[in-house]
Amino acid sequence: MRILVSVLSCTLLLLSSCNDTTKQTPLMIYIEEPHSFAKPNEAVITHLDLDIKVDFATEIISGTASYLINNNDASEIILDSKYLDIENVQADGEDTNFAIGNFDKTLGIPLSISIKKDTKRVTVFYKTTDRTEALQWLKPQQTADKEQPFLFTQGQAILTRTWIPIQDSPQIRLTYNAKVTVPAELMAVMSAENPKTKTQDGVYNFKMAQPISPYLIALAVGDIAYKPISNRTGVYAEKSMLDKAHFEFSDMENMVASAEKLYGTYAWEQFDVIVLPPSFPFGGMENPRLTFATPTVIAGDKSLTSLIAHELAHSWSGNLVTNATWDDFWLNEGFTVYFEMRIMEALYGKDRANMLARIGRQDLEEELEGFKDTPEDTKLKLHLEGRNPDDGMNSIAYDKGYLFLRTLEETVSREKFDAFLKNYFESHAFSTTNTEKFIKYLNENLLEKNGITFNTEKWIYQPGIPENQAIIVSDKFEKVEDIVRNFVKTNSIDTAITTTWTPQEWVHFVRNFPENMSVKQMETLDKTFNLTNSNNSYIAMVWYEQAINHNYHGNNVDERIETFLTQVGRRWYVSTIYKAFKRNNKTAEALAIYKKARENYHSVTTNTIDDMLEFNAK
Ligand code: BES
Ligand code: ZN
Repeated sequence: MRILVSVLSCTLLLLSSCNDTTKQTPLMIYIEEPHSFAKPNEAVITHLDLDIKVDFATEIISGTASYLINNNDASEIILDSKYLDIENVQADGEDTNFAIGNFDKTLGIPLSISIKKDTKRVTVFYKTTDRTEALQWLKPQQTADKEQPFLFTQGQAILTRTWIPIQDSPQIRLTYNAKVTVPAELMAVMSAENPKTKTQDGVYNFKMAQPISPYLIALAVGDIAYKPISNRTGVYAEKSMLDKAHFEFSDMENMVASAEKLYGTYAWEQFDVIVLPPSFPFGGMENPRLTFATPTVIAGDKSLTSLIAHELAHSWSGNLVTNATWDDFWLNEGFTVYFEMRIMEALYGKDRANMLARIGRQDLEEELEGFKDTPEDTKLKLHLEGRNPDDGMNSIAYDKGYLFLRTLEETVSREKFDAFLKNYFESHAFSTTNTEKFIKYLNENLLEKNGITFNTEKWIYQPGIPENQAIIVSDKFEKVEDIVRNFVKTNSIDTAITTTWTPQEWVHFVRNFPENMSVKQMETLDKTFNLTNSNNSYIAMVWYEQAINHNYHGNNVDERIETFLTQVGRRWYVSTIYKAFKRNNKTAEALAIYKKARENYHSVTTNTIDDMLEFNAK
């Protein structure tokens, strides 16, 4: 019925409003979305013109969000909004009625705006508030250079509505232009065409010409500079980080070239990375044209750059072909991990890729163990209605998703699988898809065509891991495991072997200490390798976890843990460490640190840790 209605009204309006927007947003039916109040089948946004001022003194963003809309005969358009001050709303330049609905603590409020049949543009005058969840305002002390303040946004999954009123569903696609005014000493960058130098007056104009989902609208403001790597890749960072970042990410052009060779042309022209201050709650965030990254990825030896391969891969899986709802999150992340491993294999060989895959396999095992009382959460297809979509964002989507795709690849042959994936990205470019549509596409274009049977539904709709899983073998890791076993037995370790280890081997070594490893043995290892003071954030993080597990307190490790937790806000890292405290009945110690560290964390991180430690912020 809906199809009929929208086709009909568009036929009638052929030369008017439908005509100019169908180019970006082909007629489509939006499916039920539990995490947005918008009713895009009735009226949908297609383009945003943002005009905002970023004020560090008050920590408020204020201005207008003005939308081109496509009205399918509705008398109102509904936007999502949370913790925003809505001052006024206009339809085609005239004040119009608007209503603010009931507040939901996860979703925020529906903002219903009266429109006419022929309304083309809706403009919202608004301000952010101190409750915003997307924004983190940093004092100079919280940055690398410690001279100027910094601001960044984090939109995924449903936080964009806390800094822009918007139809905040991944099914929505819009282009945007933005005028952003910032203090003249600072530079602004977005998930759009970006400046390479500061302007005199602090006014920046941005354009994102390809339609993207709202969770990918992003802004960072700080005392940053740009350094190119190739004519389409480069890094933004604060002064003291710029050269380090430039060195660390110098393979970026090769990564883009390898990715294109695998699954088709890079669709976004430019691929840059901005290194953010350490409180950034993620390793990386795939904002189109400008990946946001944690400084903890800078190890000095390019050893953690699979994270960049991961965010780059999202330029296909996620940004080009987007999960329709957060229940389908595995379509974004599982495909991205698979693609990431393929880029790493192409650039650095099978050994490195298999080590990474084995690390993911162990993460998955630990996650399955953690969910043993709620096996529903180990399905790829989730049911997050009534929950915060963040609840579904764990390693099931990533590592079970990866294992499913790798198993599929090994079943059908790499050649066939690659051809299939390339077509999948091409045929779904700039659109959204969900699990059910993917299964249908897979059956029609890969399995039935080749007469292959595969237990897809079991992988996707059942908890746990099916028996036909691919077995990931890493000879290097087998050797590391031998060394662990031998050390526990003999108390000695062949340092000639360990000098050739990559950081991945160190991580695997440390993560696989047996429970009965003694404090004395921890001490021996720390005396020999000084793991407590490792400059590699990943090795340090897993070592701190083991120090807590094994009651090791030598080498000032407790102080180091506290410093790490106070400076770094990357959720995966800090939650691993707090979880270790909790698991070992040391919640009081965790809370003592958390009380001091919390003010440095982004809301994404405090939400998780508040829950974990049952911390009540008030
Ligand atoms: N898109 C995710 C980050 C994300 C997930 C933000 C869910 C909000 C909700 C990003 O691509 C990601 O997966 N980051 C990982 C990197 C890693 C898997 C290489 C991270 O932050 O650790
Ligand atoms: Zn990802």
